[in-house]
Amino acid sequence: MKKIIYLMLQIITMGKPSEKIDVKPNLVTRLLYPRPMALITCIDSSGKPNIMPVAWAMPASFDPPMVAIGIALTRYSHELISKTREFVINIPTKELVKHIDYLGSVSGKDVDKFKASKLTALPAKKVKTPLIGECVAHIECEVASMLDAGDHTIFVGRVVAAQANRDAFETNYNLNKVKIILRHEKRYLTTGRYIA
Ligand SMILES: Cc1cc2nc3c(=O)[nH]c(=O)nc-3n(C[C@H](O)[C@H](O)[C@H](O)COP(=O)(O)O)c2cc1C
Repeated sequence: MKKIIYLMLQIITMGKPSEKIDVKPNLVTRLLYPRPMALITCIDSSGKPNIMPVAWAMPASFDPPMVAIGIALTRYSHELISKTREFVINIPTKELVKHIDYLGSVSGKDVDKFKASKLTALPAKKVKTPLIGECVAHIECEVASMLDAGDHTIFVGRVVAAQANRDAFETNYNLNKVKIILRHEKRYLTTGRYIA
């Protein structure tokens, strides 16, 4: 039955492969956008927290639960996470979009980004790094490994705790309530209608 439905769908939606163009090396990463946005928090050796927006965050393992983030060598957060070996992935919703460009245009080396953004630093459950209270979900990580990936390092994080807003998540985000931010073409969009 599954196969018949699949074959019928193929007949209805049959298309031909389109003509291909070569994509320049500097545009290759754009083939992987739109991407959901995350706000990474981390701390310095005195416990002072920093915030950094990233589009390069991904799940890495179910068991044990692991996630990964790609951070450029030039970022202050790179220095902090390399030293403390912990970070938190905070998921912002569309209400927080106004913060992203600013937080991504200044460095925690020069600016106290919690102070500047007036976002709320909440204590985490297992790590010293604070959560961003206004975000809808938080994944607390200890660095399990660091992979040299050219001008970025992939930090693989062992998940030591995770929380989400009660009214926003049960086994998945409730997309009627939660509008995740996606990055595309130096702009932001959010999720739309299901297509299948
Ligand atoms: C939408 C957006 C996505 C970004 N994604 C990443 C990313 O995935 N990795 C990265 O290294 N930098 C990324 N950046 C750049 C950093 O957020 C930015 O350089 C930031 O100021 C670094 O802060 P820090 O120096 O306090 O660590 C992104 C910036 C924006 C605005």
